[in-house]
Amino acid sequence: MTRECAGGRHWEREYRTAGAGQTQELARALGTSLRAGDLLLLSGELGAGKTTFTQGLGEGLGVRPGIISPTFVLVRIHPSQGSGPDLVHVDAYRLASPAEIDDIDLENTMDTSVTVVEWGAGMVEHLSESRLEVTLLRATGSPDTELVTDFSSEDDDEERIVRIAGIGPRWAAPPEQLG
Ligand SMILES: Nc1ncnc2c1ncn2[C@@H]1O[C@H](COP(=O)(O)OP(=O)(O)OP(=O)(O)O)[C@@H](O)[C@H]1O
Ligand SMILES: [Mg+2]
Repeated sequence: MTRECAGGRHWEREYRTAGAGQTQELARALGTSLRAGDLLLLSGELGAGKTTFTQGLGEGLGVRPGIISPTFVLVRIHPSQGSGPDLVHVDAYRLASPAEIDDIDLENTMDTSVTVVEWGAGMVEHLSESRLEVTLLRATGSPDTELVTDFSSEDDDEERIVRIAGIGPRWAAPPEQLG
């Protein structure tokens, strides 16, 4: 699905994944299209799959593995294992305001890295004129896409809806790798 939207939002794609592996596969494909300076904002409830998605991105980028939920660490840098950009993985869940983001100085690493921010909506948009917004939602599995926010289950194979939207000049068109 591709549609034109206001506010610099050029397109939005929607995918359904049947499990964590498929979410990572989608992210891996996207990861191969990313370059230094790119900013991604990941949204979705606790346990929706933001970190799972980031693991796939890391594979696509070819950075050092070991992407985990940064419980106490706000920022983790995963260095490139080749010639590509590093991956800067941020969890903004505990941040109260965009001013606190400035304290961790992401601008310093932005130019040489792909920056991925979980819970970044409303926090980090000012870092770049362009961004990808990724939203993960759990579907009930019924075609009417009723959404639930109870992520109590530990199941690795649940259906998720993954929406990816492109904002700003860098994302005038969706990356080919998204199919
Ligand atoms: N289709 C799916 N896509 C992604 N994750 C899935 C899917 N189905 C089940 N899961 C499971 O859901 C959980 C997602 O956890 P993850 O840590 O990625 O969420 P999160 O959004 O980063 O949470 P938090 O807000 O706590 O950081 C994992 O246990 C994963 O295996
Ligand atoms: Mg997470």
